[in-house]
This record gives sequence, C-alpha cells and structure tokens, in this order.
Amino acid sequence: MKHFVTMKDQSEEIILQLVKRADQISQKGIPPLEKQYFAANLFFEPSTRTKMSFIVAERRLGIEPLDFMAETSSVLKGESIYDTAKTFESIGANFIVIRHTQENVASQLARSLNIPVINAGDGTGEHPTQCLLDLVTIYQELQQFKGLKIVIAGDIKHSRVARSNAFALSTLGCEVLLTGKEEWRDDRLPYRYVTMDEAVEIADVLMLLRIQHERHDQHMVLDQESYLNKYGLTIDREARMKDHAVILHPAPVNRGVEIDSSLVECSRSRIFKQMQNGVAARMAVIESLIEDVQKVQ
Ligand code: CP
Repeated sequence: MKHFVTMKDQSEEIILQLVKRADQISQKGIPPLEKQYFAANLFFEPSTRTKMSFIVAERRLGIEPLDFMAETSSVLKGESIYDTAKTFESIGANFIVIRHTQENVASQLARSLNIPVINAGDGTGEHPTQCLLDLVTIYQELQQFKGLKIVIAGDIKHSRVARSNAFALSTLGCEVLLTGKEEWRDDRLPYRYVTMDEAVEIADVLMLLRIQHERHDQHMVLDQESYLNKYGLTIDREARMKDHAVILHPAPVNRGVEIDSSLVECSRSRIFKQMQNGVAARMAVIESLIEDVQKVQ
C-alpha cells in the first residue's frame, strides 16, 4: 500500500489485514519504530478526534508530528495545498496526513508527491481512517462481516463517512442499507433505503451520521425534536433493536438530534469505543505505509 486515500479500491484482503492488525495493536500495542520519522498533519478543516488520534498514533510509534496550523502558516500568503505539502516533503516529512474541504485533494497529492498520503477527510469525498476504526469496532463486536446488515442513517449525501463505509462494507460482504431524509439521499450510493423504524429492527449495526450543516447549500433551520422523532434514534426505537445490535456514530454527535442524548453512552453504544480504536487503526495504517516505503528503499 503506497497511500491510504480511499476505501473504494481497497481489496478485501488489504482491508481485513488492516482491521486485524489494528485490533491486535489495540490489545497488545507495538514497540516504537527504530528509525526517525516525521509526520506532516495538514488539517485545513476543524477536527478533534482525527487530528488528536493521529498525533497519539504517531507518538506511540515514535514518530515526530510536525506542528502545522493552517491559520498561522504561509497558506495565509496564498501558498497552494500542493506547495504546502511539497514543502513538508522537502524538509523531511515521511508522510502527509491531510484533511481539507476539497474533495479528491488527497488523491491528487498522492499522484504528485513522493511520500505516502493519508486522507483524513476530503469534503464530501471519503474518510478512510474513520471507516477503518468503524470496521475494527464492528469486528471486535461481531467477529465477522459477511452477511451482516449495516444500516447507515442520516445525512448520507454530505457524508464522507457514509461513502467510505458503504464501499468497504460491500467489499467485505455486508448488506448495506441506508435511511434518511429524502433530500439527503445520495444517488452515487446504489443501496436500498428503508425507514428508520425498519432500520432499527433489521440492523446488526446502526451507523448514525452527523448532520453536516457546514456542507449544506442553504442553512436549514431544523426542528430538533421532530427530526429526532422522524429520522433519529429515539429511546423507543433503541428498545426495538436486536439484542446483539450496536450503535456507531463518527462524532461529534448532535445530541438530541441524530440520537437521544441519553443513548450516547447506553449499553449498545460503541461511540467512545470507536474513538479509542481510532488510535490503533491509524497506527496500523501508518505502520503499513512505512513498511512499504522501507521495502523500496
Ligand atoms: N469523526 C471525526 O472525523 O471527528 P473530527 O472531525 O473531530 O476529526
């Protein structure tokens, strides 16, 4: 693996390898790398979980994260994304982690740089490391993927998490179903839509999404209570889920909108477990990319 920018083209073998390695790292850890490596974490869009868990993952691997803040960098003097990334490559970064509002920015950089690129979220494109940590969480819970019914619920159209997960879960043999408001359906994802009431009864995994207000063309004034009652996970719906079914959400959570606030930490919620797995998932991706760089050197 030279880059990690999409789940669309990943084989079942590679995905399972990364899931199992991340699961192993989450249980046993791994010793830091012996050689000195530097990571460029280029976050042009806000992030708490992804940015911080990359930093923890890098530090646990003995990698030095290079501090970059777009708002105090030469981006303010008009420097392009490509020139910024190329600068980090020139001064010795061994890989780039990038989050940006622009779709496909990571794959464009992957084609032009000589170091690995990791997509930490590109507009409404993809979020492959979020997907990997979701897969690790499902694997730890249900020990398999084939035949599982996974319902992805909410703002499908604007969600990079939905896209990466739909691609990877299909590759792994899951049945992917979608649910959400009509205007947030995404024609690019050819999966069956169900109602939220059907979803809670059939899902082995209910993957809730955040409403991506920042990606909507028009600011929508939402009646939170009526949204929750029509499209969200209410206490009544949670009670109708299968015994073994679990709830995922990439977070940040709009409490009381996508999910009743009291369910965020209920017994079947794995929302904070997902965040915990984010560190091991990112360590597994970085390790795999560094190993492949070492093979060509
Ligand atoms: N899930 C996720 O990507 O969260 P952040 O935006 O906080 O990184």
